[in-house]
Amino acid sequence: MALQLLLAGLSHAREPLAPIQLPQTVTPEMLLGKQLFFDQTLSADSKTNCASCHLFNHGGSYPKDKTPMHDGSKSRYNSPSIFNLSQNYPLGWEGQLISMQEQMHSLVDQQVKMGLSWSTIETRLQQQPEYVERFAKLYPQGITRETITQALVTYEIALTTPAPFDAYLLGDTNAISEDAKLGYELFKRYGCVSCHQGEKIGGNLLQKIGVIEPYAYDPDDSSLASLGRYNTTGNKADIQVFRVPSLRNVADTPPYFHDGSVSTLEQVVSLMSRHQLGREIPETDIKLIVAFLNSLSGSPHPKLMP
Ligand code: HEC
Ligand code: HEC
Repeated sequence: MALQLLLAGLSHAREPLAPIQLPQTVTPEMLLGKQLFFDQTLSADSKTNCASCHLFNHGGSYPKDKTPMHDGSKSRYNSPSIFNLSQNYPLGWEGQLISMQEQMHSLVDQQVKMGLSWSTIETRLQQQPEYVERFAKLYPQGITRETITQALVTYEIALTTPAPFDAYLLGDTNAISEDAKLGYELFKRYGCVSCHQGEKIGGNLLQKIGVIEPYAYDPDDSSLASLGRYNTTGNKADIQVFRVPSLRNVADTPPYFHDGSVSTLEQVVSLMSRHQLGREIPETDIKLIVAFLNSLSGSPHPKLMP
């Protein structure tokens, strides 16, 4: 058994993708973060929580192209998954945020998502004896924007979703279908792994959409979404540059791309091959790659689910 594990370990060590695990233990800090994540009192209308735009039954993302905001506008971007964030770097479609803590502060400061300031959120929580007690047990400073952020970030980082593909990487050859295995070989051979690699199968690089064949974009788009990272840096070279998405749970998170403009994985793979690799991939290979992408879906630890 030990030898088998060692061999499995050795074999996946040579792979460009790496397996992930559920958290070993569920801590009180994670559970406090969970309560905050689903708490609607953190929003101005007392109807919105983090899960309003990061749905657990939709791979941690949102089923429409854009999310509705508090001021009646729509989000600039498609809501990304809230799962498997630990190695996403930088954060946001434009790669505009360097840490989960910074992401949390920007989310509250912009006010369009939850519609409340930090001081109101702190006061609302301080008025609830259960929160006062739970925070006091974990943090000497009690309820502050820093401890609220820390609990939420701890919860988010714990939301890993090991999938059948992870079991396969760890040596269980029956964990995924033959099509998915062939699809994985094609995913490597065509070069998808040059951008979608590591534990999260993406999530850790900034890349242009249209590196080989230019990808059309709308210069009059008032949301400025198609300009991507350029909005953050003002550098022309960053037009249409985005954080490469993680492909974990990707089968559960349509619509795709930064603007939610593409509805099926088949279409996405075909666009990726044309614009990112400069080639046409035959229909049969696209089907196999999609079978591989379908093996990347899993669920968080049951105690961390809603
Ligand atoms: C109104 C919809 C909405 C709500 C509510 C919302 N989010 Fe988001 N979230 C988004 C959108 C849209 C993005 C993408 C923003 C971008 O890339 O600029 C995002 C991005 C994120 C990211 C970055 C993920 C990545 O991979 O880069 C994290 C983390 C996150 N949200 C956490 C939260 C937490 C925690 C809450 C609750 C406190 C929350 N969100 C509430 C819509 C929402
Ligand atoms: C040069 C880097 C690069 C290569 C190579 C590449 N991708 Fe991508 N991929 C990206 C970027 C950047 C995006 C985000 C595009 C956007 O949102 O406009 C993306 C998006 C995706 C998405 C949509 C994810 C989502 O949540 O919206 C899928 C699926 C995907 N790629 C699969 C593939 C496959 C399969 C291949 C190989 C055929 C591939 N990619 C090759 C950079 C790359």
